[in-house]
Amino acid sequence: MFVRSFVHYVLAAVLYTHANVASAAGELIPKTDSSNLDDFISSEYLVALKGVLANIGPDGALVDGADSGIVVASPSKAEPDCLGEPKYYVNKTAFTDEWGRPQRDGPPLRATAMIAYGNCLIDNGYASVVEKNIWPIVKNDLAYVAQYWNSTGFDLWEEVNGSSFTIAVSHRALVKRSAFANKLNKTCSSCDTVAPDILCFQQSFWTGEYIDSNINLQSEMKRSGKDANSIITSIHLFDPEATCEDEIFQPCSARALANRKAIVYSFRNLYPINNGSKDTSTIAIGRYAEDVYYDGNP
Ligand SMILES: *[C@@H]1O[C@H](CO)[C@@H](O)[C@H](O)[C@H]1NC(C)=O
Ligand SMILES: *[C@@H]1O[C@H](CO)[C@@H](O)[C@H](O)[C@H]1NC(C)=O
Ligand SMILES: *[C@@H]1O[C@H](CO)[C@@H](O)[C@H](O)[C@H]1NC(C)=O
Ligand SMILES: *[C@@H]1O[C@H](CO)[C@@H](O)[C@H](O)[C@H]1NC(C)=O
Ligand SMILES: *[C@@H]1O[C@H](CO)[C@@H](O)[C@H](O)[C@H]1NC(C)=O
Repeated sequence: MFVRSFVHYVLAAVLYTHANVASAAGELIPKTDSSNLDDFISSEYLVALKGVLANIGPDGALVDGADSGIVVASPSKAEPDCLGEPKYYVNKTAFTDEWGRPQRDGPPLRATAMIAYGNCLIDNGYASVVEKNIWPIVKNDLAYVAQYWNSTGFDLWEEVNGSSFTIAVSHRALVKRSAFANKLNKTCSSCDTVAPDILCFQQSFWTGEYIDSNINLQSEMKRSGKDANSIITSIHLFDPEATCEDEIFQPCSARALANRKAIVYSFRNLYPINNGSKDTSTIAIGRYAEDVYYDGNP
């Protein structure tokens, strides 16, 4: 829920390079051609930033009524009546009814964000603030990862119960933790033992041709597993200092590129908007081909 419209927005922003399409913010995404990627990125930057800010309360244009600092997932108030992260209403009241929980990617994503923020504070002379306020949150989230990484949970679309490729962000959080903890003279022994196990498990999502985004499924739902999940996750894992390693699914790795092609092709004949596109042309993609949410669409 938390990710739904935001991710749609970013996907739209990144992938609809050949069509003028109304975005979540009601803006038109600039028409560009792929030879001019740098121009596209610089013009898209402001459009995307505006779209992100429009989703944040209390002043966001699209989130009337949201409390200060609340990041809203979807402006819809029906089907289901639950905005933001599945556990909270926009007024910060916890949502305790049944809803696609647990989602195991929350704690590692939060830890990674807090580590980046903490590193910045340490570099600017605020190590004691970090030790007192940030480290306890990170430590708690990493303890969750170490305890539950091998349990099932719901995928990022909050639909299937199993193991999601988003598990990769757990490995990343544990790795990022190492240098951060060192700066603070802290240890996390369970992190060191669990990280290699997670990396090993990540390999089982690779089918040989593409990433199967959902394995160990408990539900009856049949899916190919070709899912924008894996593209988004791979982007999340991007490390400018890494090489194009297959093992950690870097966006430039042979695996990630083959996966991206497989996913794009799974959408090629699916939507009227793509109809008539040439094999080499950019097309609009959605979450996954079997999607039925609002009839599944880009
Ligand atoms: C927050 O919103 C929910 C849903 O509209 C409502 O049930 C709840 O009572 C509200 N909580 C507060 C503290 O206003
Ligand atoms: C737990 O880890 C093992 C070993 O990697 C793997 O075979 C199994 O599918 C995992 N199960 C879950 C639910 O993560
Ligand atoms: C998800 O699957 C696990 C493992 O089979 C099961 O214990 C749990 O009850 C399931 N959760 C939901 C909400 O169906
Ligand atoms: C960590 O330990 C080193 C060496 O004892 C010390 O110089 C440094 O100030 C410590 N850092 C923190 C954040 O406590
Ligand atoms: C694509 O266009 C053809 C020819 O006009 C039509 O028969 C087909 O139904 C269209 N497919 C989609 C998905 O709109």
